[in-house]
Amino acid sequence: MILSPSLLSSDFGRLAEELAALEEGGLSWVHWDVMDGLFVPNITVGPLVIKALRKRSKLFFDVHLMIERPERYLGEFVDAGADLVCVHAEATAHLDRAVSEIARLGAKPAVALNPSTPLDVVEYLLPKLHMVLIMSVNPGFGGQSFIPYCLDKVRALRAMVNERGLSTLIQMDGGVTVENCGELTRVGADVLVSGSAFFSCPPYGQRHDAFLAAAAEGPGA
Ligand code: DX5
Ligand code: ZN
Repeated sequence: MILSPSLLSSDFGRLAEELAALEEGGLSWVHWDVMDGLFVPNITVGPLVIKALRKRSKLFFDVHLMIERPERYLGEFVDAGADLVCVHAEATAHLDRAVSEIARLGAKPAVALNPSTPLDVVEYLLPKLHMVLIMSVNPGFGGQSFIPYCLDKVRALRAMVNERGLSTLIQMDGGVTVENCGELTRVGADVLVSGSAFFSCPPYGQRHDAFLAAAAEGPGA
């Protein structure tokens, strides 16, 4: 299991120090939540901030775009140093084009699905995708409760990926905690995003270890 801490719950006044602390804690990924105030009600950071922090960090930048018509900004986010760019299926009329463009620009393409969006949307795209993000809350805010039916979605996606012999990663984002991460990995998630449950319990190295141990010992593991 890869843990990708969501900076949304970090101290935005000390982002460089937060990134350094994650690296020191043994994390390899970090999750950037980009919000535009249109696709979701909240507004966070854009490519300028990511680019400034790229110079300060070797972490894998997992960039979750919660913005309308993300195709307008793909070049800017890749140029800013995103290693992976994840676009919402609900935010663009031309998902295949956006995914192909992310790959052409040299980043890893991913697609996010809101809780109620069916898996069919990514069915034909799967071979092109490095990762599918299954949202387990309605995007926009940290600290919300996990929506239980999203477990069924991950099970179904896991089966789809395995049946086709693909290596597409499955990520879950929203309401992920030490308590539920065992079950999430057991149903097939590879990458877990955690914001509030991660950043509220420093030091980050110990918190990372707690997530990894709980994921390994999950029910049925
Ligand atoms: C929600 C974001 C998440 C959020 C998760 O729109 O995409 O990444 O930060 O926060 P928690 O882990 O607190 O639910
Ligand atoms: Zn996110």
